[in-house]
Amino acid sequence: MDQLDQLVAQAGIDFAAAADGAALETAKARYLGKGGSITELLKGLGKLGADARKAAGAEINKAKTAIEAQLNARRDALQQAALEAQLAAEALDVTLPGRGASTGGLHPVVRTLERVEQLFRSIGFDVAEGPEIETDFYNFTALNTPANHPARSMHDTFYLENGEGVLLRTHTSPVQIRAMQAHVEAYKDRPAMPELRVIAPGRVYRVDSDATHSPMFHQVEGLWVGESVSFADLKGVVADFLRSFFESDDLQVRFRPSFFPFTEPSAEIDVAFMSGALKGRWLEIAGCGMVHPNVLRYGGFDPERYTGFAFGMGPDRLTMLRYGVNDLRLFFEGDLRFLGQFR
Ligand code: DAH
Repeated sequence: MDQLDQLVAQAGIDFAAAADGAALETAKARYLGKGGSITELLKGLGKLGADARKAAGAEINKAKTAIEAQLNARRDALQQAALEAQLAAEALDVTLPGRGASTGGLHPVVRTLERVEQLFRSIGFDVAEGPEIETDFYNFTALNTPANHPARSMHDTFYLENGEGVLLRTHTSPVQIRAMQAHVEAYKDRPAMPELRVIAPGRVYRVDSDATHSPMFHQVEGLWVGESVSFADLKGVVADFLRSFFESDDLQVRFRPSFFPFTEPSAEIDVAFMSGALKGRWLEIAGCGMVHPNVLRYGGFDPERYTGFAFGMGPDRLTMLRYGVNDLRLFFEGDLRFLGQFR
């Protein structure tokens, strides 16, 4: 075989032996690089006569083209192999079902609040709001709980530094005062004032944390003030509400005498289910009572003329009972495995 054919054959063997791109480039340099065999042969052409140079030049170029073709073929083959290796490593099973777009859902406590609002709206209550950062005055004083009143110790809370008498509200009861003041103000130039019926759902804060207490929790305040509102109305409204809320007549409601500074008389509301897992156990779900005359006065109502009832319920508790959840903290940890069950 002639020298050029041998070179081409050897290049083919060398290229085939190159296992990756870098090895291939090294092999290429041996033939086509600055000091490579083909390059050297081309340099030698100068020493030949014109005719011989032409003939030899054509032969060498033919060999060069053949080597380049082999080089390119090997380069493509290596690239293809690399791609296949990568695809195999990153194997993708296109037959797996997709993850799907998750649709959000309402938080279980929000579901309860919406349900409570809907039921109270249906009997003529408005929904009122108040600030979560509340003043000492609205949170305590106007609710007949002056500074140094022992009842304040049941409501330890988070006080804000540099805020004169400002705190995170410990209950939704301050909205009672705000709602009464706004109502009186709205009707001050009118010949008559309608009854005031509001509920006030919202977040409240206390220094408390265990399975049934969270430092942040929810309350729904209720307030009905008019010229002939009685404890009997309170009992009827609350009992009806609970039967509607739990969609069951199979429950008992009891009003147990208690104390709150802002009501007189005061009671705690307990419910007991007559069937199901909680059968026969009394569970406390709200405080209530007839609005104290001092509280009516702070709200701008004349206690000689008006009476009212109020209650403060725990919608977190209601949610636990409705869905059979045994740890309150689950509601506020943001674990989607828990929350996703309520969609
Ligand atoms: N604010 C009370 C608390 O958080 C609950 C409460 C009791 C509200 C009696 C009321 C009420 O409106 O009449 O402990």
